[in-house]
Amino acid sequence: MPLFHRRDLHETEERSDDPFCNPENPVKITFEEITSAAYKIRSGIKNTPCEFSHISQLTGMSIFLKKDFLQHTGSFKERGARYALLKLSDEEKSRGVIAASLGNHAQAVCYHGHQLGIPVTVVMPLIAPIMKIQKCREYHANVVIEGKDMAEAKQVAFKISKERGLIYINGYDHPHIIAGQGTIALEILEQVPDIDAIVVPTGGGGLLAGVSVAVKMLNPSVKVIGVESERCASYSQAMANGGPTFTPIEGTLADGLAVPEVGYNAWETSRNLLDKLVVVKEEYIALAILRFIENEKCVVEGAGACGLAAILSGQLEEFRGKRLVLILSGGNIDTTILGRCLERGLAADGRLVKCRVTVSDRPGGICELCKMVSSIGVSIKDIVHERAWVASDVFSVEVIVVCETRDYTHSVQLRELLQSKYKKFEFENFPNEQSLVAPFTQDLFSMP
Ligand SMILES: Cc1ncc(COP(=O)(O)O)c(C=O)c1O
Repeated sequence: MPLFHRRDLHETEERSDDPFCNPENPVKITFEEITSAAYKIRSGIKNTPCEFSHISQLTGMSIFLKKDFLQHTGSFKERGARYALLKLSDEEKSRGVIAASLGNHAQAVCYHGHQLGIPVTVVMPLIAPIMKIQKCREYHANVVIEGKDMAEAKQVAFKISKERGLIYINGYDHPHIIAGQGTIALEILEQVPDIDAIVVPTGGGGLLAGVSVAVKMLNPSVKVIGVESERCASYSQAMANGGPTFTPIEGTLADGLAVPEVGYNAWETSRNLLDKLVVVKEEYIALAILRFIENEKCVVEGAGACGLAAILSGQLEEFRGKRLVLILSGGNIDTTILGRCLERGLAADGRLVKCRVTVSDRPGGICELCKMVSSIGVSIKDIVHERAWVASDVFSVEVIVVCETRDYTHSVQLRELLQSKYKKFEFENFPNEQSLVAPFTQDLFSMP
């Protein structure tokens, strides 16, 4: 049955422009294609480490991290990009290729195009971060900045592709892209024995499709788990509706996963192989990024941190005591965004807290509050006070204090202290204990 869940005619026209991604005739990627991709790309792609993680202690699982953010351009996208480029005919190679992307796919195609001497054009929307445009230019690509968003940039790319006879390479649904992404699973299965599950960040579904084909062929008992952000949950929508469905996207820390509709080939390939799909909230993605930096010294972008976010949000509890591989799919995160993520992560962890306290407005009232906070070793990061809109008497002032604490228990101590002294007091958005993963102290996991 053809799967029609498309938004409108405009979308239909866009799809029919890509002969490799035909909704009426989706392609299932085979295991043989993945092994062939692995052979072809072996000299240009790193076999990245898959290492036992310190995070195991925190989660009560044996966790291994497949560090594909260590690829040259910082993401796994190079696997598919290189394979798709290598599969072109000589004539196609000399004409060149075109892609529309905001991020990792663009960088991967530009870098490998340059390596292989294939001209690359990428179309990026006007909103593309200057850093990413710059990176693609460094790889000698022809960068076209046009369109207000990705959908418009894609239309521009299709137009140029037709005019100049360039092959359009979809970053998650081109069959060669999917086959290339699947090579990561071959490496994982060689690197880690006795795996119980592999957790895969999911956007357009190309990585998930490639991984599930390889895993289910080589070791069907290994569970394949997809993870997406609740702000771009297009794979869950596809599952709910029996096929790719347009899903409006909201801003997310996992911008690499922000694809409004999963690929038709990716869906057709993965839908019967996937064991579980987890949808995570943004605060867990922020917390996961923070944990990777603090515990692993790894800078991982939001999309790449989703696997850990799934664990931290308590959605993979059935794997306590089991062996899990998390794919750290990318590390390209803007420094400004990283700063914001860390603050959000600290807040989600109960280590950055905001309290609203009404204190005496007589001399020394605010000073007394500050002394009390510092008496237990909590430091004040920010403090503002408010007089005009305070409902209590005119001799009171409302103070908003942002504090840094050592950990959640320290914050609870602060709350108890302030509660004992002040009548009007509240902590804003303080996480409850259940939402935090308690450290798992058993020494079960000292050995991989
Ligand atoms: C870092 C990262 N992780 C995961 C994904 C998801 O891959 P896919 O779109 O094939 O599902 C992407 C996609 O761009 C990505 O950049």
